[in-house]
Amino acid sequence: MKLSIIGASRGIGRKVVTEALERGHKVTAMARSMETATTHHENLTTLSGDATNATDVAAAIDGADAVILTLGLPRDASVLKPTTLFSDATRTLIAAMETNGMKRLLTVTGFGAGDSAEKLSTPERLIQKALLGRAYADKDLQEQLIRDSALDWTIVRPGILTDNRKSNAYKVLVEKETWRNGLINRADVADFLVTAAEQASHIHQTPALQR
Ligand SMILES: NC(=O)c1ccc[n+]([C@@H]2O[C@H](COP(=O)([O-])OP(=O)(O)OC[C@H]3O[C@@H](n4cnc5c(N)ncnc54)[C@H](OP(=O)(O)O)[C@@H]3O)[C@@H](O)[C@H]2O)c1
Repeated sequence: MKLSIIGASRGIGRKVVTEALERGHKVTAMARSMETATTHHENLTTLSGDATNATDVAAAIDGADAVILTLGLPRDASVLKPTTLFSDATRTLIAAMETNGMKRLLTVTGFGAGDSAEKLSTPERLIQKALLGRAYADKDLQEQLIRDSALDWTIVRPGILTDNRKSNAYKVLVEKETWRNGLINRADVADFLVTAAEQASHIHQTPALQR
């Protein structure tokens, strides 16, 4: 497949790039600082660009069979300040995908976004609201924009991210009754995203992932 990854310079996005290349896919990887990326591969195209810029996004998704959006706040951003990064980037991306007749979008938000907030314990809810409330308010809006689109979307909600090695033994919790917050490796989130793109699975679902 040809996969476009937006937010690809670090974290989950970077792991998605590695996983997709290992499986033989052609990858376009975009973030603002892709020029510092050290991965080189004949099937990898890197683009430095801003996910809120329509021209950059159009270039990043050109010809893709599926787009994987793994944005996080910039390193120098305060999580305590309001942000519109997730909703702005998502609006830009949906418009670009619809203009180009593209359908398949997989994105990462987080456990506590949208209706998964109901499944946080009271201490978890208080901590998330105090520390990440502003970011999650924008992730809520991001999820709603995606749900309101005509795309074949999958919204992945990992719990607390770790950098352990890929386990191949994580749980994909699709039904609301099963949703729980918990640890999950970034490499396992990447494994799920690439597998779901390949299999066109979990369309219009919001799975939580857990180790
Ligand atoms: N940490 C946790 O425990 C946890 C739990 C659940 C969910 N999450 C969520 O999971 C997601 C991924 O987190 P992560 O820690 O793996 O990754 P991360 O380190 O936050 O990486 C974020 C990526 O987004 C890119 N980015 C930021 N602003 C951009 C812009 N305007 N245009 C293009 N790219 C941009 C960054 O690259 P540049 O800076 O180079 O642009 C980077 O590649 C985040 O949304 C996070 O909130 C995190």
